[in-house]
Amino acid sequence: MRAGSFSEFALRKIAMATDTAELAQLLDGLSKPQKRISPKYFYDQRGSQLFEQITQLPEYYLTNTELGIMRDHIAEIVACIGKQASLIEFGSGSSLKTRILLEQLSELAAYVPVDISSEHLHASAALIRDEFPQIDVLPVVADFTQQFQLPTPMVMPLRNIVYFPGSTIGNFEHDEAIELLRVMRHASGENGALLIGVDLQKDPAIIESAYNDSAGVTAKFNLNVLQHLNRDYGANFDVSTFTHSANYDQAEGRVVIELISRANQMFAIGDTEFDIASGEAILTEYSHKYTLDGFAKMAKMAGFTVAKVWTDAADLFSVQYCVRS
Ligand code: SAH
Ligand code: AVI
Repeated sequence: MRAGSFSEFALRKIAMATDTAELAQLLDGLSKPQKRISPKYFYDQRGSQLFEQITQLPEYYLTNTELGIMRDHIAEIVACIGKQASLIEFGSGSSLKTRILLEQLSELAAYVPVDISSEHLHASAALIRDEFPQIDVLPVVADFTQQFQLPTPMVMPLRNIVYFPGSTIGNFEHDEAIELLRVMRHASGENGALLIGVDLQKDPAIIESAYNDSAGVTAKFNLNVLQHLNRDYGANFDVSTFTHSANYDQAEGRVVIELISRANQMFAIGDTEFDIASGEAILTEYSHKYTLDGFAKMAKMAGFTVAKVWTDAADLFSVQYCVRS
């Protein structure tokens, strides 16, 4: 696509984005000496499908390990949640782990999946409604880093439980993560709580292979961000000239996921043009890995106390129940 020419859909998105300053943020990220695209742009419909494929890769230990922890400790987890809660899930995706909770939470007031990927969210919510017809399923399409409205369930909940599985918290930098935890504290209300999946620091080789899978799905997922921007935001990236890169920075405790330009070239978002050198990186994502102590300190700064921690036998991953301090 030529710079300055937009599909009708892109124009609508750009108009929406302009209203919310989203486009300005996107351009600002690409104008920095270290070019950045927010990981939220991974998740168009194809990105959500590719993420689902990632969760099934043998190298991507996160999903299976978290599922195992949930299954092994479900009775205790359900006891923490209690009766007639509203379960509000941030970044619900396919609601895979949630099903383990929904099967056991017999008196749920409502299930509120919140996600930015609208088609995928609605398709997942429809499946949940079919599987659990007794549950009031109230999907919300929203960017959870911006202000959004929660729906009012038909049955008055006794408390709100914010559920944030998958270690999506790790995709935020320290200060952003604290800010997001504060938003969740607010959403959970006076007597609410947070149930969160947190990936743990471990052998760097295990981590690096999770983000450099042999089937190349993570590479496709990473490159799809450029396709998404081309289609919906009037960008003109030549996707074939970028390659996927993921390295674990042990000192910072995070995977650095980038797209490397293989040519000296220009690209544009609408009318705004950018130069990128051969070998230069666009940072698309961090994936932080925590110690239990490190996460507890971060949670404390957001006004949460970690009340329970469940891990797998190899301490790869943790599920944590956090209450207001
Ligand atoms: N919770 C699922 C999916 C994790 S993938 C699991 O544990 O497997 C991250 C999810 O968060 C995706 O579904 C993505 O669409 C959503 N997401 C990412 N950034 C978001 C944002 N800023 N606002 C709302 N949803 C977001
Ligand atoms: C959603 N999030 C927790 C994933 C992760 O592991 O950081 C996103 C992802 N990026 C590459 N692979 C998976």
